[in-house]
Amino acid sequence: MSPTTTALVTGGTSGLGLAVAARLLASGTVPVLLGRDEERGRAALESLDGRAGPESSGGRAVLESPGGRAVFVPGDVTRPDDVTAALDAAERHGTLRAVVNCAGVPHAERVVGRSGPHSLDRFAEVVTANLVGTFNVVRLAAARMAANEPAGEERGVIVNTASLAAFEGQAGQAAYAASKGGVVAMTLPLARELAGSLIRVVTVAPGFFTTPAVAAVPAAARAELDRDLVHPHRWGDPDDFAALVAHVLDNPMINGETIRVDGAVRMSSGLRRRA
Ligand SMILES: NC(=O)c1ccc[n+]([C@@H]2O[C@H](COP(=O)([O-])OP(=O)(O)OC[C@H]3O[C@@H](n4cnc5c(N)ncnc54)[C@H](OP(=O)(O)O)[C@@H]3O)[C@@H](O)[C@H]2O)c1
Repeated sequence: MSPTTTALVTGGTSGLGLAVAARLLASGTVPVLLGRDEERGRAALESLDGRAGPESSGGRAVLESPGGRAVFVPGDVTRPDDVTAALDAAERHGTLRAVVNCAGVPHAERVVGRSGPHSLDRFAEVVTANLVGTFNVVRLAAARMAANEPAGEERGVIVNTASLAAFEGQAGQAAYAASKGGVVAMTLPLARELAGSLIRVVTVAPGFFTTPAVAAVPAAARAELDRDLVHPHRWGDPDDFAALVAHVLDNPMINGETIRVDGAVRMSSGLRRRA
């Protein structure tokens, strides 16, 4: 019997991360979901693999689906102890071969808005959640995967999630674009450094995907974004994103690169919304 492989999916309780978790589960890998909201985690496990219950050996409120085919660990990517708990859970269930970082928060705020300058605290929060959180997971997960026996020519793969905002951030996206630009910029140095441990690092930059995060965007703003659609003339389905991640995990020649999955969208300035 081949050993069980596990994958940590941060933000695996919703949207793009949940779609990745479903693909992993279907391919026989145990997805370990990390997210802050326990109810969302429970609902995600139930949607993936039936009713969730407490994990037998977990120290904190770790949940697992029947047969341990999917696991949820409550926690925040910016907190080392939480990420460590998720990695421990992944290693209890098998060999950690992949990390897919989907945890992230959107943010829109003008540098100089009607009520004054951009909140500096909010800028720092967005960069902390999206960039520092991603790096926190990368560093802790890479240390674990570096101790794996190689499977074929590698020990593990890390996939991070950026955004088109890293390349063509709109007016109002300074904080979000800075956070995602950092994810893109660290991809190559991470891949170079972790090559010695036989670990690949790849970033995926999604365009517009229909997820719960986007449902919160006002209809007028969504209609404005619709103008940038090219082909296919629709928003992406989360499984379109998950299909690319699955390919990246399988293809050993993809490394140190950021791949756009956007249907040729190039975001406009966003200045029309100002009118
Ligand atoms: N949807 C799009 O069109 C789009 C486009 C470009 C980029 N992206 C990026 O893709 C990623 C996924 O987005 P999505 O649309 O799938 O959003 P989503 O449905 O809101 O999912 C975000 C996930 O991240 C988790 N999360 C957020 N902050 C976290 C933290 N500090 N620690 C742990 N988990 C955290 C959330 O769970 P909790 O809140 O319970 O923690 C949730 O599971 C994000 O990085 C986003 O920036 C999305």
